[in-house]
Amino acid sequence: MSRGGRFGRYGEIKRIGRLRRSGFLSDPAARFQSLKERIRFGRKEGKGPQLRVRPVRQSDLHFVEELSGKVFEVYGPYRQWVSRWFKVDSAVTLIALHEERPVGFAMLGRFSNPAQVLFSAELLAIAVEPRKQRMGAGRLLMNEIEEIALSLGVNRLFLHTAKDNLPAQKLFRSCLFTPSELKRNFYPAGQDALLMFKDLLL
Ligand SMILES: CC(C)(COP(=O)(O)OP(=O)(O)OC[C@H]1O[C@@H](n2cnc3c(N)ncnc32)[C@H](O)[C@@H]1OP(=O)(O)O)[C@@H](O)C(=O)NCCC(=O)NCCS
Repeated sequence: MSRGGRFGRYGEIKRIGRLRRSGFLSDPAARFQSLKERIRFGRKEGKGPQLRVRPVRQSDLHFVEELSGKVFEVYGPYRQWVSRWFKVDSAVTLIALHEERPVGFAMLGRFSNPAQVLFSAELLAIAVEPRKQRMGAGRLLMNEIEEIALSLGVNRLFLHTAKDNLPAQKLFRSCLFTPSELKRNFYPAGQDALLMFKDLLL
């Protein structure tokens, strides 16, 4: 995303303020529905000519399952879990494409507590095909997830990542996520997790 995106975000913040005052944001179901309608045909260009992100399609399920099995299985039955999240209506999934082929995905989960003034949402998963890593797809997905979260009225994004997953932590830190808590034996296979968060409107 270019630096110009920051001005877009400022406009988005003002729009969120208007939506809040109108009461629209008090209904999370309506919020998700509106988002899905808005991004269904949306296309966002990446920083390179070959890389872009688009909303998920039903036909992406196999790709998401395969990639989850490849990169997350060491932590537990994530192929099945991610597949289940994929089908949940309240999750928002984005697909990263390189030369128009899927190379990665990111999944934003439901609000942790829609009743709170400070809306928070969890980045459930992010993954890029091992052979396509270090090309910028992960960062592009993070940027787009953040934009979507902002447009949904989310103030705080949080995520869990394995304590030993230093490449992922480096990506999240570079996206200005802060580590806040170590959770022992968080994953089914026994690994510890680091809880990280980012306040989006700061
Ligand atoms: C974490 C992951 C999504 C990053 O995707 P990616 O497309 O490789 O990320 P990018 O190319 O956008 O890299 C962005 C930054 O992340 C950091 N980073 C990514 N991979 C790294 C690695 N192997 N070693 C060190 N830093 C790394 C770097 O700071 C990098 O910036 P730079 O290339 O300018 O140095 C990818 O490594 C992955 O899918 N891992 C397996 C699944 C996983 O662990 N997901 C996170 C669990 S929540």
